[in-house]
Amino acid sequence: MRKINLLIVGLFFWLNALAQNPQKIEIDATQTLVPIQPTMYGIFFEDINFGADGGLYAELIKNRSFEFEYPWMGWKHLPQAETRFNTSNELTIFNNARNNPTNPRVVRVEKRDASQELGLQNEGFDGIGLKKGEMYDFSAFVKINSGDVYIEVQLLNEKGEVIGSTQVRSNSLGWGRVEGVITASETVQKGKVNINFKGKGQLDIDQISLFPQDTWKGRKGGLRKDLVQLLADMKPGFVRFPGGCIVEGRTLAERYQWKKTVGKVENRELLVNRWNMEFSHRPAPDYYQTFGLGFFEYFQMCEDIGAQPLPILSCGLACQFNSSETTPLEDLDPFIQDAIDLIEFANGDVNSKWGALRAEMGHPQPFNLKMIGIGNEQWGQEYFERYEKISKAVKAKYPDVKLVSGTGPASDGELFEQAEKALPKLNAEIVDEHYYKDPKWFRDNAKRYDNYDRNRYKIFAGEYAAQSHAIVSPDNKNNWECALSEAAFMTGLERNADVVYMTSYAPLFAHVNRWQWTPDLIWFDNLTAFGTANYQVQKLYATNAGSSTLSIKSNGENLTGQQELYATAAFDAKTNEVIIKLVNTSATNKALELNIKGLAKTTFGKSIILADKDLKNFNTIDKPNKFIPIESTSSVLNGKTLVNLDGYTFQIIRIKK
Ligand code: AHR
Repeated sequence: MRKINLLIVGLFFWLNALAQNPQKIEIDATQTLVPIQPTMYGIFFEDINFGADGGLYAELIKNRSFEFEYPWMGWKHLPQAETRFNTSNELTIFNNARNNPTNPRVVRVEKRDASQELGLQNEGFDGIGLKKGEMYDFSAFVKINSGDVYIEVQLLNEKGEVIGSTQVRSNSLGWGRVEGVITASETVQKGKVNINFKGKGQLDIDQISLFPQDTWKGRKGGLRKDLVQLLADMKPGFVRFPGGCIVEGRTLAERYQWKKTVGKVENRELLVNRWNMEFSHRPAPDYYQTFGLGFFEYFQMCEDIGAQPLPILSCGLACQFNSSETTPLEDLDPFIQDAIDLIEFANGDVNSKWGALRAEMGHPQPFNLKMIGIGNEQWGQEYFERYEKISKAVKAKYPDVKLVSGTGPASDGELFEQAEKALPKLNAEIVDEHYYKDPKWFRDNAKRYDNYDRNRYKIFAGEYAAQSHAIVSPDNKNNWECALSEAAFMTGLERNADVVYMTSYAPLFAHVNRWQWTPDLIWFDNLTAFGTANYQVQKLYATNAGSSTLSIKSNGENLTGQQELYATAAFDAKTNEVIIKLVNTSATNKALELNIKGLAKTTFGKSIILADKDLKNFNTIDKPNKFIPIESTSSVLNGKTLVNLDGYTFQIIRIKK
């Protein structure tokens, strides 16, 4: 964060503001109002826009186990077609289902002529990002059937030149894992990998993998460090995973099944990604889920970054935007069992079936799961009936685990009203509301929860993002108008922290070349990543949350957009600070006099400002720091401070009590 000491400039603001007859704002720091939950600001994760495979999951090889619908997708034969037919050497896909039913296909390498070239080239996900001087772990499962064939692995730059290589050979009888380390001598955004087969004989190969060694926490086969760091920096209260519509699937067969994502990585059965062909303008036929990032890894990441896990499970109803394929109520047992077993996997004793698997995977301690979601963005009677059945069974076994239920795709209208009527009767505890709306909606709805029924369920504002062009339009941008409008809206979420227990922006990640949905919180390419202005807003809220709300009023009223000014205030018991958040969505500056009851006579304040004069501006991969908060300090006399709140500004002031 950039720092400027504004002590001197502050004097100018005082004089300037006095001349403008500042608007008086009263903050009462003598009494706290309602607690702000530690879960208040969190993260929504879904494998959309190549967020997992090709993104957070650091695997660099696409279709590593040849299980995509077309087995050679992502791969090229070496040599290429013309010369291939003049050789006795051959590559075939061999079906090994008898030995590995969840991952049946392997490549059979027939190297009959040792003098001829034979190999495979992988194109990666939009190329392979490689960094000069960094080390890469190559591995594969190999079985030598006859003769003596060994493997040469080469990293290539964009011109096809070799920028690192190693050789590996299998010494085991039957299937064995071969490993090698390669250092890249150049940085390339879109490299490739060659796997050359040398010598003579027959070999089977599968699960061809390349990972950077420099992953998050240095874990082998782990997650992209820069992307997890951006999440950790947000200090999120929770992470919701694995989605999103991906939970539901286009059909029931394509739903997310957590049990298929745990255990040995090489045995996890892949699944097509439902976002591959969802939007005809952004087709991605090569989009699959290998589940190398599965439920264990999600739990582990949550633990690493200090966030509560919130897994969302299928309720037996496929996406209602797609097939709406529905499981009969009398056949819901497998879905109920999945939920119950998941709690055992996360929290159960190491002697229980699923707790034992967690321990075997390296985590004997429980993950301390406290809540799960039943169904994603589902609606209507079909949903309510299934929610009722599953929730009753889960609660009977685990009464302390909180359940999250859905309200459908929109936060208003017929379907939403049905949910509002049905869910209280089903004893819903935390209810997930989604709003993908234009920026004005966000500015107009800062009061949304002021009059919500305090005796009903709690709210999870589980998916929201202001849409600059139109809902789900490919022309949407993460521009300042959207981010500022979200900041304004969020003053209302925080003010109503007795009702709103959790909030998260959606979607989270997008690859700059391979996205399906925009806007998104964090964008990345094969080498770098950046947070949008919206990310900065989310991060500022999460890292300046406070533990309880305080009253902040002007003329006896909450600041909910009168003259385009929004505000919320909190007290942070840990740091003994008053935290004031101010949002000015108008173009002109505002002179404000903050009177804070209950402060020491003289104290210091820290201001954090996110601002821009142009609402259309946004961060990009080339200019990632256009929107970055700026910090300054100022003094507060007898609980009074003057603030010159610039136009189009989100400002946070932290004052020691
Ligand atoms: O965030 C993208 C999608 O929006 C989610 O998958 C779904 O829940 C919502 O419709």
